[in-house]
Amino acid sequence: MTRCDRTRAWAALAGHYEAHGRDLDLREAFARDPGRAAALSFEAPEVYADLSKNLVDLATLRFLVELAQECELPARRDAMLRGEVANATEGRAVLHTALRAPRGAGPFSDEVHAELDAMLAYAERVRADAAITDIVNIGIGGSDLGPLMAVRALQAWGDPGRRLHFVSNVDGHDIVPLLQRLDPAHTLFIVASKTFTTQETMANARTARDWFTAAGGTDIARHFAATTTNVAAAAAFGITTTFGFWDWVGGRYSMWSAIGLPIAIAIGAANFRDFLAGAHAMDRHYAATPLARNLPALLGLIDVWYRNFRGYTSRSVAPYHQGLARLPAYLQQLEMESNGKQVDLDGDALPYGTSPVVWGEPGTNGQHAYFQMLHQGTEVVPVEFIAVKHPAHDRLDQHRMLLANCLAQSQALMQGKTAAEAATERAPTASDAIAPAVLARHRRFPGNRPSTTLLLDALTPRSLGALIALYEHRVHAAGVVWGINSFDQWGVELGKALANELLPRLESGDAAGLDGSTAALLRRLKA
Ligand code: F6P
Repeated sequence: MTRCDRTRAWAALAGHYEAHGRDLDLREAFARDPGRAAALSFEAPEVYADLSKNLVDLATLRFLVELAQECELPARRDAMLRGEVANATEGRAVLHTALRAPRGAGPFSDEVHAELDAMLAYAERVRADAAITDIVNIGIGGSDLGPLMAVRALQAWGDPGRRLHFVSNVDGHDIVPLLQRLDPAHTLFIVASKTFTTQETMANARTARDWFTAAGGTDIARHFAATTTNVAAAAAFGITTTFGFWDWVGGRYSMWSAIGLPIAIAIGAANFRDFLAGAHAMDRHYAATPLARNLPALLGLIDVWYRNFRGYTSRSVAPYHQGLARLPAYLQQLEMESNGKQVDLDGDALPYGTSPVVWGEPGTNGQHAYFQMLHQGTEVVPVEFIAVKHPAHDRLDQHRMLLANCLAQSQALMQGKTAAEAATERAPTASDAIAPAVLARHRRFPGNRPSTTLLLDALTPRSLGALIALYEHRVHAAGVVWGINSFDQWGVELGKALANELLPRLESGDAAGLDGSTAALLRRLKA
């Protein structure tokens, strides 16, 4: 495969950036072309995307699509969907899409649907069990972030009489105060771990089991379940109620598998099937829509454009829906663990940047925290707004305020305000001692700052499934262009190994052979 920076399209994009891209002014572009919003807005299942406030024009998208073609995105996508090895360093297929394919369609359909049926039947039994009031998911990374994000997002679809808790951190401040509030007779623990070896999860699971047995609990089969590919390790731990999945499901792509059990308990089997169906609809869109209208591909390609041609190193995600509060954290793992890579598929160092830093908070909260920097800081940060047309509550006055703020922010980022405009306004909190011209320069907004707005009709199991699948495929599209393996995560290993080495030293205080800083910190902790 040709490396992306050696393609004809890359050279064309570089030339295009010099000729038209660098000086593209969104305000002028909209003034010149009344059709811009329509031309740069796209429909995918459950998601409407306005890309017109991005620093692109139709020619940019055309060259980006050519880049994707030269990097063989369609062939790589199809091979992944067929189940060929897409994660070469671990020799694994990448088939989270098979988890949401309808019965009889897609690879491994029999195994997938047998496990799904069993997991959903169990979820319904838990929902029908009035004695179980609290469900605690113990997992970390992909075994925590997706279910937590989705359960919060779909709160309106849940049963208010049942509480779902998520424990992830090895820090005892996570699980200990929670256990103090729980009653073992009314609690179900789900130990969620693809490998069933993750230090944090195993430590929390042991703490939960100790707490349960110390309180006289004996019925582990009723009060503990495990979701894992390593059923033998779960059995060795003493958990016999297990739901499995497969090594071709990456941890950060796993909430469609048994790892989604807390979601299924929260929203019920039928809604969970809708969640899968929404994702499957997006899979079909990614698989079958020409790249020029293929939303995940376009978003991934714009990520490449911003990272490699415009030099932007981060992207902010601003969901204007409190239910999506944990979406940015979820996307951090999805995007940065997938595409935070520095070598190509042959292991050769890349001369260009890959994953941007992904960060954010729900709107309008972010506006009162870091939006100052987005509007007037020295870095340009593309912002991704997510808005939902219909709320799940009846305070339409507040919902209109929310939407007005969402639209206003993308407008303000783009329009900006000149010093001359600022000089004509009275700023009630401004000091009388400051010269008006100086004040106007402080109050100037450069504008021309890019954003995307994704619009959902309502936040439902189906639309959430489609939205998340959209992000998954966007990561794939960008990863293919960058020529990297988006499905391994060797970068998490070193810290884990060093922590294991340090653990006994925290008891013994032995600092021999450590670097000066770590040795001094260890001594201080032991003193
Ligand atoms: O530390 C990274 C990681 O391996 C993630 O990729 C994964 O989602 C997480 O740890 C948890 O792993 P497991 O589900 O095996 O406990």
